Amino acid sequence: MNHDASAGFVPPPYPYDRLDSLVPIASAHDGGVVDLSIGTPCDPPPQSVLDALATSGSERSYPPSIGSVALREAAQRWMKRRFSVDIPAADIGATVGTKEFVVTLPQWMSLRTPSRDTVLYPAVSYPSYAMGAELARCRAVPVPSRPDGRLDLAAISPDDASRALLLWVNSPSNPTGDLDDLDAAADWGRTHGVPVFSDECYVEFTWSGRGRTILERGTAGVVAVHSLSKRSNLAGLRVGFYAGDPELVHYLQEIRKHVGMMVPGPAQAAGAAALDDDAHVEVQRERYHSRLVRMADVLGNWSGTPVTLPAGAFYLWIPTDDGWGFAERLAVDGGALVSPGEFYGDDGRPFVRVAVVQPDDRIELVERRLRAAGGLSTQSREVAHE
Ligand SMILES: Cc1ncc(COP(=O)(O)O)c(C=O)c1O
Repeated sequence: MNHDASAGFVPPPYPYDRLDSLVPIASAHDGGVVDLSIGTPCDPPPQSVLDALATSGSERSYPPSIGSVALREAAQRWMKRRFSVDIPAADIGATVGTKEFVVTLPQWMSLRTPSRDTVLYPAVSYPSYAMGAELARCRAVPVPSRPDGRLDLAAISPDDASRALLLWVNSPSNPTGDLDDLDAAADWGRTHGVPVFSDECYVEFTWSGRGRTILERGTAGVVAVHSLSKRSNLAGLRVGFYAGDPELVHYLQEIRKHVGMMVPGPAQAAGAAALDDDAHVEVQRERYHSRLVRMADVLGNWSGTPVTLPAGAFYLWIPTDDGWGFAERLAVDGGALVSPGEFYGDDGRPFVRVAVVQPDDRIELVERRLRAAGGLSTQSREVAHE
């Protein structure tokens, strides 16, 4: 925890700001830097969604914090189509994107159960799970993964389980792309009396089998969290939702009303339109999959080690002896910016994450540069370690 007794809380450097030193190196290339670090979409959302945004007529009045009926019913229809689960609109709440939900949740859960103080989360994961715990002055306790990429629930100590306010699961995972056993997570939570929150924001980009939600195991003690940022290229709009256990959802709906968490009305209208349309998601799936295949091939040739495709999400998670060194060599040779694995936890240190979130012509540019560099050269290695 960064709680300095004299200075108070000092926010840690924002992970992606730590890449600033690599930007001038990558930018030196003709055509500039190709940013494959932050997982921010670059492709257009559907026109029908933009039309809904512009024509909702909902600008004047305050929007409902829990989400409009139209948004929540669209979420209900989508979950029915996608997962064959029927969650009443009353058990769904809107989020201003899902990051704020992830980060503020421990505070609300801690108020609800003051005798507990622990947030369990995947050891290699999206940094906001741990940050939310820290900002709520809770213990952030990482749960390791098994070799198959699933959470090692048996590794959670009885003491940590008895102190846990919640367990986060994330499938498909950012950054690893691994798929978790959501049934096992739901069962573990019920057995130990720990609410399980399942971050499913990459579910539409599941490459191995069909996308799953934890709600398929029933809603008791579990909440699924979804976002339109990745599914519909709407990260700038800030719309997501949570759904599941009625008691948990109603508690959070009420708290979030008091906090003033409100998705702007026009954004809610656009979100409903996006959720009712699946065709654009099919197009987006194809884009990400072909970029993953292409980038895996390019990086495999350049590094001399085959790069495996993920089971889900749009990241390549590449083992390497030195994540920072790999990122620097890629900036030197390819003008590309990628994330050292330590951004996602200590266990991520021997990895690098490559987000395929640039248009095809930019990815092609990286390919041409790396081909011209002639592979992961001795010279670029030396530069990287200076
Ligand atoms: C695993 C995971 N959860 C949640 C989010 C938050 O997305 P948003 O706030 O745009 O809904 C992200 C964004 O990258 C993510 O990777």
